Amino acid sequence: MDTLRCFLFTITLLQVSKFVISKRDQVTTPPLPILPLPSFSQLKWQERELIMFLHFGVNTFTDSEWGTGHENPAIFNPVGLNANQWVKVAAEAGFSLMILTAKHHDGFCLWPSKYTGHSVESSPWKKGHGDVVQELVNAAKNHGGIDVGLYLSPWDRHDKRYGNDLEYNGYYMAQLQELLNKYGSIREIWFDGAKGSNAPNMSYYFSDWFSMVKELQASINIFSDAGPDVRWVGNENGFAGDSCWSTINRTSLSIGNGSIVDYLNTGDPEGTDWLPAECDVSIRRGWFWHKSESPKKLSMLLDIYYKSVGRNCVLLFNVPPNSTGLVSEDDAQRLREFRGAIDTIFSTNLADKCLTKASSQRGDKDSDFGPQNVLDSDHLWTYWAPKDEEFKDNWIEIKCIDELRFNVISIQEAIGLGQRIKQHEVYVDGKKVAKGTTVGHKRLHRLEEGVVEGRIVRIKILKSRAVPLISSVGLHYDPFWHPDN
Ligand SMILES: *[C@@H]1O[C@H](CO)[C@@H](O)[C@H](O)[C@H]1NC(C)=O
Ligand SMILES: *[C@@H]1O[C@H](CO)[C@@H](O)[C@H](O)[C@H]1NC(C)=O
Ligand SMILES: *[C@@H]1O[C@H](CO)[C@@H](O)[C@H](O)[C@H]1NC(C)=O
Ligand SMILES: *[C@@H]1O[C@H](CO)[C@@H](O)[C@H](O)[C@H]1NC(C)=O
Repeated sequence: MDTLRCFLFTITLLQVSKFVISKRDQVTTPPLPILPLPSFSQLKWQERELIMFLHFGVNTFTDSEWGTGHENPAIFNPVGLNANQWVKVAAEAGFSLMILTAKHHDGFCLWPSKYTGHSVESSPWKKGHGDVVQELVNAAKNHGGIDVGLYLSPWDRHDKRYGNDLEYNGYYMAQLQELLNKYGSIREIWFDGAKGSNAPNMSYYFSDWFSMVKELQASINIFSDAGPDVRWVGNENGFAGDSCWSTINRTSLSIGNGSIVDYLNTGDPEGTDWLPAECDVSIRRGWFWHKSESPKKLSMLLDIYYKSVGRNCVLLFNVPPNSTGLVSEDDAQRLREFRGAIDTIFSTNLADKCLTKASSQRGDKDSDFGPQNVLDSDHLWTYWAPKDEEFKDNWIEIKCIDELRFNVISIQEAIGLGQRIKQHEVYVDGKKVAKGTTVGHKRLHRLEEGVVEGRIVRIKILKSRAVPLISSVGLHYDPFWHPDN
C-alpha cells in the first residue's frame, strides 16, 4: 500500500515539475541589447556618480597652478598631513573614489620613485621617508568603501628626458609600473594632453601606456581625451552637453586636440564605442590650494551636479588639500552642505506610493517588464520595456492619488542594454513641463517654471535608437532651486 502511495506521489510530483518546466519556456526574455555596451568596469564607474580629485604637490606651497619644474623639494613639507581626514571628508560627501595627482606638470613625485630624485624622498616631510600615495591607499583601506585612482602627468617640466621620445617614454612607463604594481587595486588612471605652448616637441606612446595599464590592473578605467574607458567632457566647468551620449567614435578622437571639444561634450548617437564622459571641475577657482581662494557657492555646486550627474556623466570634483596637508575646513563645510542638499532633494521620491501605467508592456501583464519597475530601488536591471514592435509614441505614466508638489524630475535608462532615448517630453496633468534629448544613466530636469502641482506625470519618448527601457523615475522637491535667480 505504502509503495503504491509513494509511487503515485512521485508521478504527481513529476507531472507538476514537468508543468513548471514547460511553463518556463513561456517566460518573457529580456529585450536584446543595442551596441555598444558598457564594460563591467565602466558600469561600476557610472554608478559612482561622484569622484574626488585631489591636486596636491609643490604648487600647494608656491601658490601656483603650473609649476616650473625648478622647485626645490625642500619646500614640500605638509607637517599635518592626514589622509584619513581627506577620506573622511570624501566619504561623508558621498564620494567612492579619490584620484590623487601622483605627479603634476612640475615633475615632483608624491611617492619615492626609483627613477628620479625629484620626489618626497628629497623633501623634509617625514625626513624623506614619506609617501603620499601610500598614505591615501592606507587611509582608503582603513575606511573601507573608498577606492583610489591616480594622475600621472605626461608633461614633465623637470625631467631632462622630456623631449626625447625613447628615453622619456621609458621613464614614464617605469613610473606607471611602480604605481600600478606597488599600491594594490587602482580603479582609475588619468592621462591628459595639457602642455605649454613652448614645451619640447615629443610623442607619447599612448598605445604602449594603455596596454601596460590594462596588463597591471584588471578593473581599472583609463581616462583621457580619447578614452579608452572614460572620456573628457571637453571643458573644465563640470558641464556636459544638453545632449550627452555615452557613445562616440574613438577613431575621431585624439589626445590634446582642441578641435574635438564639442564632439566630446555631446558624444555621438551613431558612435561605435562606449566611452562615457567625466566632468572635471574644482571646488575653487584653481586646481591647487591657494590661501586667497574660497570654495564656490552651494548654488553653483548644485548647478554643476545637475549639469554633470544630471546629464548622464560622472562628476570629478577637485578638493585640494592645503599646505598643512589637510582639506580646509571651509571646503569640508561646503561639501557637507552639498551632501545635505543632495539628500534633502533626492532621498525621498514623491512618486514612491503612486501607480504606474504605460503605452504597452513587453510580454504579458505578469512579465518582468512592467511600468512599476521604475519605482523600485534597482536603477539598472529592473526596468519598464514596451513591446518590441512599438518603436514610436511610447509613454509611461505615474498616477498619484494625492496632488504632488515638485520641481525636479529624474529619469534613468537601463544602460546595461545600451543608451537609447534620443528625444523625450514630460507632461504634468496634460501640460508640457520639460523636454530633452538624451537620458542615459540619469537625466535630471529642474523645471523652468519652478514648482508644479499635479497628479499625473507622463513621460513621452518621441525618438529612440531602439525600444526605450526606463529603469527609474523620480519626482522631487528642490528647495534650493529658484528659477528666477
Ligand atoms: C612637432 O613635431 C611634429 C611631428 O614631427 C611636427 O609636425 C611639428 O611641426 C613639430 N612642432 C614643433 C613646435 O616643433
Ligand atoms: C584633431 O581633430 C580633428 C577632428 O577630428 C582632426 O581632423 C585632426 O586631424 C585632429 N588633429 C590631430 C593633431 O590629431
Ligand atoms: C561614427 O561612426 C558611425 C559608424 O561608422 C557613422 O555612421 C557616424 O557618422 C560616425 N559619426 C561621425 C560624427 O562621423
Ligand atoms: C588647512 O586646513 C586645516 C583644517 O581646516 C586647518 O586647520 C589648517 O590651518 C589649514 N592650513 C592652512 C595653511 O591654511
